Amino acid sequence: MQKLKTAIIGCGNIFPVHADVLKNLADVELTYVVDNQKSRAKAAASKYNCSYLTDYRKLFNLQLDVVHVCTPHYLHLPMTADLLEHNLNVLLEKPLTLNYQTGCQLAQLAAGSSSKLGVVFQNRFNPNNQKAKQLLSRGELGKIKGIKGFVTWHRDKNYYLQDSWRGSYQTEGGGVLINQAIHTLDLMHWFVGDVAELKASIDTRLLQNIIEVEDTAEATLYFANGAVGIFYATNTFTSNSPVEIVIDCEKASLQLVGKRLLKIESGIVEELQIQAEKEPANYKSYWGNSHQKIISGFYKDIKLGTEKYIINAESAVKSLQIIDAIYQSAHQNRRIVLK
Ligand SMILES: NC(=O)c1ccc[n+]([C@@H]2O[C@H](COP(=O)([O-])OP(=O)(O)OC[C@H]3O[C@@H](n4cnc5c(N)ncnc54)[C@H](O)[C@@H]3O)[C@@H](O)[C@H]2O)c1
Repeated sequence: MQKLKTAIIGCGNIFPVHADVLKNLADVELTYVVDNQKSRAKAAASKYNCSYLTDYRKLFNLQLDVVHVCTPHYLHLPMTADLLEHNLNVLLEKPLTLNYQTGCQLAQLAAGSSSKLGVVFQNRFNPNNQKAKQLLSRGELGKIKGIKGFVTWHRDKNYYLQDSWRGSYQTEGGGVLINQAIHTLDLMHWFVGDVAELKASIDTRLLQNIIEVEDTAEATLYFANGAVGIFYATNTFTSNSPVEIVIDCEKASLQLVGKRLLKIESGIVEELQIQAEKEPANYKSYWGNSHQKIISGFYKDIKLGTEKYIINAESAVKSLQIIDAIYQSAHQNRRIVLK
């Protein structure tokens, strides 16, 4: 069996989640890890029994099939553009890029490339989200009237101080919106469709002297199909409580909270599904379980020439478009039309 040869750039927090999945894929070989901090690259290479580099550009001539980009947000555009130009398939951690404008730039590049670009919004592959999407697509619950997405998490001073790229518009691109709540915004537009207009506000309630980005944001979303969305996200809660999504349809509503998917119809609550799988003990529980699905699916798609698991740039840029409009609305205190 011809193995697909792969490399990972960035050996930080999310790195082991990717490397552990690759270790267990029979038809994939992790050949290189790259980090500009040599000690990190060296340690990762020794743990995963592969070679290491400190300059990702040295990957270009190594006959690789896929490269994972797990670096800070400001590096997503230049690294991914370089890799695509060298005919390498790329699996890129979220967000697509730092902002909507550069996101569109990368989406255009990817559309014109013969290589594939997939973006890691793994939560689309959580069993409950897949089931909810199926139910909505089949139309059994009637038209979607509204959706609510609430993210109440905890990120303290130490979190922002551990890596210098966090907490700044130039290197992270934003705060709770682009780093934590982007998964929920991605699910909201994936479930309901395109957002046509929105009105929003943002604030930095804690850590004003430490971060320049928002730690709290809220928005009312007006979807093109007439549905209305309520969105609230904060990093100022005392712990990471489960994300809550409620989808209100004509005949029933769906509640996605933590591991549970409930259907509420005429006041009767039905438990549709509980996710039984346990998160690996060595990872953050709020990353969920679905990196395995999106990563192994990406390789299946590359082998078969399909796009079942690939979340392409055109789809991934939509959450950046919403975030960009939230900033505009907050700064100008007016309703914004998304174009
Ligand atoms: N999908 C998820 O649930 C999820 C969870 C966590 C992080 N992420 C994403 O993963 C990405 C990385 O996040 P993280 O928390 O692992 O960050 P991190 O800061 O822990 O790791 C980034 C790594 O990139 C390395 N790096 C920086 N510049 C480099 C360069 N020029 N060349 C090579 N390596 C370089 C750093 O040394 C560091 O080891 C971000 O986009 C983040 O949003 C996604």
